[in-house]
Amino acid sequence: KKIFAFSIRKDEEPYVKEWAKDHPEVEVEYTDELLTPETAAKAKGADGVVVYQQLDYTPETLQALADEGITKMSLRNVGVDNIDMAKAKELGFEITNVPVYSPNAIAEHAAIQTARILRQTKVLDEKIANGDLRWAPTIGREVRDQTVGVIGTGHIGRVYMQIMEGFGAKVIAYDPFENPELKKQGYYVDSLDDLYAQADVVSLHVPATKENFHMIDKDAIAKMKDNVVIVNCSRGALVDTDAVIEGLDSGKIFGFIMDTYEDEVGIFNEDWRGKDFPDKRLKDLIDRSNVLVTPHTAFYTTHAVRNMVLNAFDNNLELINGEEADTPVKVG
Ligand code: NAD
Ligand code: COI
Repeated sequence: KKIFAFSIRKDEEPYVKEWAKDHPEVEVEYTDELLTPETAAKAKGADGVVVYQQLDYTPETLQALADEGITKMSLRNVGVDNIDMAKAKELGFEITNVPVYSPNAIAEHAAIQTARILRQTKVLDEKIANGDLRWAPTIGREVRDQTVGVIGTGHIGRVYMQIMEGFGAKVIAYDPFENPELKKQGYYVDSLDDLYAQADVVSLHVPATKENFHMIDKDAIAKMKDNVVIVNCSRGALVDTDAVIEGLDSGKIFGFIMDTYEDEVGIFNEDWRGKDFPDKRLKDLIDRSNVLVTPHTAFYTTHAVRNMVLNAFDNNLELINGEEADTPVKVG
């Protein structure tokens, strides 16, 4: 049996080696190159592939893998929104993901950034770097004084709720599929409108489905409280960036936390030093003192990366062995 892995970073390599050592019956090969129509042939002879990338899995890319006889593909991440599912179905792909590699990684990042924006740490850092050590007017808001509205109470949303409660916030939530335990404890409001009307912080923890595209748009922002903080550590497509910029300009939005950006593909996780920055709108956001941009790094912890690699290889072996996969992705 042979598994080929694409786009293995240096920080993932030890875990690939760890898995290979524990599975001497499987031949493991890998490359640091992304999976594209051109590189797919590197997997020749493999029974399955382990992949991760923010690039789209286009029909051409999937076809190139299928041309090598490979249709068992295991993602090292959660999101599957960049896979052309119609083509994957047509080609008979079996796909797995790693839905729960470390919800804490993302929730913790979102919570840290929430606390930072409320205490205006970016403004303070900039002031201090310029020799301005005065307090005013950079006064903080305490987390315990905030009502935090969590949209999506899945794995990540639930951990974010716990952390924010630990800080003393009042937490409310909305999810069309209510968690029975959370429901008993009275966290849920009846609608997104209710959440917008009450929340000082609105944090998104939902997938980028067609229905959720630009769920945070001009109308949604208009329904939110003045001085709201919006947190998007989920997917760029959930937020209409222009509407947020309008809200920042008008002063309606106190702060915006973006770990994801609707046009991030080809920009995030690249080194732009000494080069022309390719996205003016993003540069404008990065330059604002009340916007905290991180390049989709919420997931990026040692704990998460180890689980992503080990679980993806386990999943791919399950597919190759014809076993029922633990975490299959619905193809189609
Ligand atoms: P999950 O599937 O466990 O939970 C998602 C929840 O969202 C579900 O309970 C679902 O019912 C709910 N939901 C869907 N649409 C909704 C809507 N319109 N309003 C309210 N609730 C809605 O997923 P998770 O593991 O908690 O991950 C959430 C998202 O986080 C992922 O889909 C992914 O986009 C994102 N993510 C980001 C990073 C990162 O590094 N920034 C890493 C992993 C995942
Ligand atoms: C996911 O797991 O879906 C993420 O968003 C993290 C990814 C950038 C590795």
